[in-house]
Amino acid sequence: MKFPTGFIWGASTAAYQIEGGNEHSALWDWERRKGWERSGAAAGSWERWRDDVACLKRLNLKAYRFSVEWSRIEPRPGEFDERALARYREMVRALKDEGIRPIVCLHHFSEPAWLFAQVPDGWLTPAAAGRGALAPAAELFIRFVDKVVTYMGGEVRDWLTFNEPLVWLLAGYGIGQFPPGRRSLLSLQRTFYGNYGGGGLVGRVARAHKEAYRIIHREVPEARVSIAQHIGDLEPAGDRKEDRDAVKVWERFMHARLLDLLHHDATLDFLGINYYTRIYVAASRLPFVPLGTMPGYAEVEELLGPRLFRWLGGRRGDRPRTDMGWEIVPEGLERVVKRCWDAYKLPILITENGLASTTAHGREDYLKSHLAALGRALASGVDVEGYLHWSLIDNYEWGSYRPKFGLFSVDRDNGLARTPASGAEYYAEVARTNRL
Ligand code: BGC
Repeated sequence: MKFPTGFIWGASTAAYQIEGGNEHSALWDWERRKGWERSGAAAGSWERWRDDVACLKRLNLKAYRFSVEWSRIEPRPGEFDERALARYREMVRALKDEGIRPIVCLHHFSEPAWLFAQVPDGWLTPAAAGRGALAPAAELFIRFVDKVVTYMGGEVRDWLTFNEPLVWLLAGYGIGQFPPGRRSLLSLQRTFYGNYGGGGLVGRVARAHKEAYRIIHREVPEARVSIAQHIGDLEPAGDRKEDRDAVKVWERFMHARLLDLLHHDATLDFLGINYYTRIYVAASRLPFVPLGTMPGYAEVEELLGPRLFRWLGGRRGDRPRTDMGWEIVPEGLERVVKRCWDAYKLPILITENGLASTTAHGREDYLKSHLAALGRALASGVDVEGYLHWSLIDNYEWGSYRPKFGLFSVDRDNGLARTPASGAEYYAEVARTNRL
């Protein structure tokens, strides 16, 4: 199968997961408090970014999605580290010299520690003034965005404001896994969406996105701005009507409402989609379970334990799984992309897709099947403009180095050397020939 001319082949990373030494991030101390494996030097990309550019070149890739680390650029409130900004700009220029398009993400989970010293409840704290005003956390974020975009705007056309807002917010404010560690499972709908009309956490993020969108287009009129939305392939856990309704509820909560808000504001120039797996959603048998739904994420099963999970109606699929425990469902990518196209008619960029695997052919098979699914979506008329694999190199998977997502392995015992992993050769050939 041949891909359209100009199809964007690339790979993704995130600053906190690869740079190392991001000691001003709230996550730095959080790792210790949670007893996580420490991120430490990560893949050392802050110093070794040229090695990463070399990896991209070896794979014949034409795009690199990475994030800029807020806590590195602004280690103390209002104090910007010009050297850090200059380093990112140097990297952007080096990428462009190699014909690699930089796609810059402004918020990939990590936030500075000082943010929570100033605003302990983070994004939970609403704007002081009435509707339309920015929440305090959003205001601080926007000050950072303005700085970065003014500094690098001339060099970068493609921007992602937030990575997986719902995943990040659920981790930080739903189940307390990320800073600031708040929980709201019994009031999820209200905490996330307020009283319908754009309030709550998601409304605040949407408002911040809108402001970032305005700033980016002010600096870069031809910019293309989006978010990277985590979209699972949601399927009903059973054939009861309640389960089909539960899918709709969870779909709205996790995917659609935020996209609807941004689409309504006309602040999406394309749609960034992170796709990993299928999720079975059941209607819960207990009325107080959040939203009355039981989404069958591997992480939910792990949190509850398999027996309680099943008792509550949880279901996992029976396909082979990745090292994250995620079912491998390539046709889910086709379904997700088609649903998004039908709903928004925006060009789609796959901003993440990949697997944690250490088996010899794992990544190659995964790539083959997922790219074929994308090909089918293209053939049916969906405007997919590119595919960015997660991840370019092995990295820090939010608490552990065990999952290996990289097209390149990083030898943590041996000077952080990068070597091609399973699938790298195959992907390089796809990118070179533009065909499967
Ligand atoms: C995130 C990445 C993460 C990847 C694999 C996405 O949810 O954006 O930061 O490493 O999935 O879990």
